[in-house]
Order: sequence, then C-alpha cells, then structure tokens
Amino acid sequence: MLPTKLQPLRGALAFLLAAALISAKSPLNFDFPYNATNPVPFVATVDPEFIKQTVLKAALYRPSIDLVDNDEINGDWREGPDQAFMSDIAEYWSKSYDWSQSEHEIFSNFSHYAVTIPDGGGNYDHPVSFHFVHETSDNDNAIPLLVLHGWPSTHLEWAKVIGPLVSPEDKSSQAFHVVAPDLPGYGFSPAPTHSGLGASQMGAALDQLMKKLGYNRYALAGTDLGHFIGLTMNQQVPDSIIGYYSDMWYVAPNATDLVRYEQNQTTAEESKFIETYQYFTTNRYPWGPTHSIAPLGVGQALTDSPVGFAGWIIFFTKQLSDNYQYTFNEIITNTMLLLLQGTYSNIRLYREVFLKDIPKLRHTEVPAGAGIYGFPTLEPEIARYWADPPRNWIERVSNLHFYEHHEEGGHFPAINIPDIWVGDVRTFFGDLSMVNRAEK
Ligand SMILES: *[C@@H]1O[C@H](CO)[C@@H](O)[C@H](O)[C@H]1NC(C)=O
Ligand SMILES: *[C@@H]1O[C@H](CO)[C@@H](O)[C@H](O)[C@H]1NC(C)=O
Ligand SMILES: *[C@@H]1O[C@H](CO)[C@@H](O)[C@H](O)[C@H]1NC(C)=O
Ligand SMILES: *[C@@H]1O[C@H](CO)[C@@H](O)[C@H](O)[C@H]1NC(C)=O
Repeated sequence: MLPTKLQPLRGALAFLLAAALISAKSPLNFDFPYNATNPVPFVATVDPEFIKQTVLKAALYRPSIDLVDNDEINGDWREGPDQAFMSDIAEYWSKSYDWSQSEHEIFSNFSHYAVTIPDGGGNYDHPVSFHFVHETSDNDNAIPLLVLHGWPSTHLEWAKVIGPLVSPEDKSSQAFHVVAPDLPGYGFSPAPTHSGLGASQMGAALDQLMKKLGYNRYALAGTDLGHFIGLTMNQQVPDSIIGYYSDMWYVAPNATDLVRYEQNQTTAEESKFIETYQYFTTNRYPWGPTHSIAPLGVGQALTDSPVGFAGWIIFFTKQLSDNYQYTFNEIITNTMLLLLQGTYSNIRLYREVFLKDIPKLRHTEVPAGAGIYGFPTLEPEIARYWADPPRNWIERVSNLHFYEHHEEGGHFPAINIPDIWVGDVRTFFGDLSMVNRAEK
C-alpha cells in the first residue's frame, strides 16, 4: 500500500514500472554475451513475444493495389513485387512459417561463437560485437578464410559453401578454415551503438577477431557491402591478408572518367560500362540512394512491417539474382534475421560505406581475384556490361592475379551457383598458396 499522500501517483508509478520492464528487455530480441572478449560458444533464442507479434503483423498485412495493366508496366517486377506475391507470402508467414525450425537449423548446422572487441576498430571507440560461424578443416593444407556478406544477407549467404570449403571431396583441393560473421546490425551481431562504424572500422575489428582466433594471416572473400570492408582491410592490414577474392567489383566511374566520356576520350569498353552503369544505378537500383540518404526515414516503415520489409528485400534479390527461385521459407528467414534488431542499422551501413569509405579506396598490392558473374534476369543489353568494369578500372583498387567470367550467378553466386563460386575460390587461393610454398 502506498502512503496516502502518494496514492494519486499510483498510476504513474505503475506506468514507470511497466516502461522500465519494457526498456530493460534487450532491443536485440535475443541475449548476447557482451562480456566475452574472447570467443565463446553462442546459441541465440529469439524472444517468443517478438515472434508472436511478427506473425500477427503478417496476418494483418494490408495489400497494395496493382494497376489494371500491371503485367505490362511491371513485368519482372520493374516497380516492385506484385500484390499476388506479397499476399501469398503474408499468408504463408502467418499460417505456415515456423521460425523455431529455422532457428534450430541455423544453430545446429555449424559451430557458432560470439565475441566483443572492446575498443572497436579503427577510429570507432566503442565496443564492436560479433556473432560468427567458425568451422575448421581436418585437411593439412587448409588456410583460414574470412567471408564477408553484404545487404540483404547474413552469414547464411555462405551456408551452402562452408561445407565444401572446409571438407573438399577431392582431398588435393585447397581447403579452408572458414570464419563467417554476421556484420554488426545483421543477424545475431548486435547493431552499432554509435554512428561511424563503417567498412574500415568493421574491417579493423574483424582483423582483431581473426587474430583472436590465432589467424595472423588469412584469406579473404567479400561481396556487396562486405566487398568494401574487404577492400579497406587490404588497405589497412595488407600483411594479414593472403589474398582477396570478390564476386563483386563495383568500380564507379570517377569525375575524370565522366569528363573523358563527355569528350569522347573513353575506350568503347569504358563507354559501354559508363552507359550501362548509369542506366543501372538510375533505373534498377533504388536501394543504394534510399539506404544512404534516408536510412531512418525508410527504416521505420520497414521495421514496422515485416511483410513490407520482405517485399523490399525480395525486390532487390529477384532482380539481382540468377533465375534462382527463392522459397518463401528462405525469404522469410532472411527477412527475420534482418528484422530482429530493427532494419535501421543494417540499411544504414550503406550511408557509412558510400559516403565515407568508398571515396578513400586506393590501390593495394594484396593479390586479388575477380569473379565476374552474369545477370540473366536483367535486360541483356545492360546485364552484359554494368557489372563488368574494364579490367584496368578493377586494378585501380586491386592487384589482380585471377580474373574469371561466368555467364550466370548474379549478385549471389554463393547461393545461386555455389559450386562455381567454390571452384573460383579454391583455384585462386590454391594457386596463391602454391606460390607461397614455392617461395619458402
Ligand atoms: C559473462 O557474464 C556471465 C553472467 O554474468 C558469466 O556467467 C560469464 O562467465 C561471463 N563471461 C566472461 C567471459 O566473462
Ligand atoms: C545447413 O547446411 C546445409 C548444407 O550443409 C545448407 O544447404 C543449408 O542452407 C544450411 N542451413 C542453414 C540454416 O545454415
Ligand atoms: C580517376 O581514376 C584515374 C585512374 O586511377 C585517375 O588517374 C584519376 O585521377 C581519377 N580521377 C579522380 C577525380 O579521382
Ligand atoms: C567519337 O569517337 C569515335 C571514334 O574515334 C567517332 O567515330 C565518333 O564519331 C566520335 N563521336 C563524337 C560525338 O565526336
């Protein structure tokens, strides 16, 4: 019983108590061992209340309308996913999808760990925490390999390639000890608490992670936003990196290139690349500008609508994949992993990377491998060129030792055509380690 004098405050106190309980709950929607400065085994259990609310939101999904001539104007989802697809996924999510099964599959598949790098990395003076998969190989020739995903992915982008990399069927193939983190704000790696955790700061923290595992020199592979993290690592810690493979070399024309283009001084190959690159970024790539200019504005809407967020993700994924058919289960699990902590911090990484990191990229001597993958889902006249920068442009930021074209694979070759991606990685690093052995 409160003293009579305080009785009128009872409602307010109850409210404050409830507010304290709510805010005491982790914004992550799962528990994380922040005190572990050395890697500890990790299994997350997502808050059942969050799962329940997400399913309820899916059940309350409010469909958009299609124009009557939708098929004509929105062929291949040029403007976005259509109503039928979105309604189907909402129905599947609310009636059939089972997160606990996905969660179980995620944590029973590989060995999972968590670690916090106390002083962050680079000039980011705050702790940086990672969840990561670490699978070691029995093969004597194995080398450590750090693999870096981008948006809209998590460590699951590598789920199909980890097994073959760690334990190749052919024992004479190059094998790897694989380290596959979730980037901060993605999956089970806690989101940054402050701005300024961009590609170079994440790269510095990831180098510390590799060293905590005893890997002073390691191979590196990155795609999408992870590609830029990889490039900053080549610049910051070149002596730690055996070689760098990427399936995405996004080398934008710089101001000088554009002037040369206007003055008709670019080669035919450069002109074609500039034209298709500009067409692609203007007509087929709303994510980059939206995420870097207004991550909070759009992040609030995406966080509040799980189905809407799934639509934004699958819009991206469908256009930039091979003709690979993602299952509803794959789409929803991936969406859940980027929704757990809210979407703001994972989409905000674009802002850090495009505004701060990309302008500082320079050539490095770290041996590099380029896999160039075709985009059968885009218009053939742009697909052939936009993702295939002139080789000497790639060499502006790299020391190319390996350069391979593939007809298919799109932006997610490790998911869409995993055997081919694995083949590239084995060949590139296998040749490098042969050179290293010969030099010894
Ligand atoms: C972290 O804290 C938990 C609970 O407070 C404790 O059980 C655990 O041993 C600590 N771990 C480390 C690595 O300090
Ligand atoms: C589990 O591993 C298999 C291959 O071993 C892979 O195909 C599947 O995608 C993985 N799933 C998850 C959730 O990691
Ligand atoms: C564009 O790249 C070329 C080749 O690296 C370089 O010579 C030129 O200075 C760059 N221009 C700008 C504005 O950075
Ligand atoms: C650009 O250069 C090409 C090859 O030298 C030439 O055929 C073409 O007419 C030029 N175009 C313009 C607009 O000057």
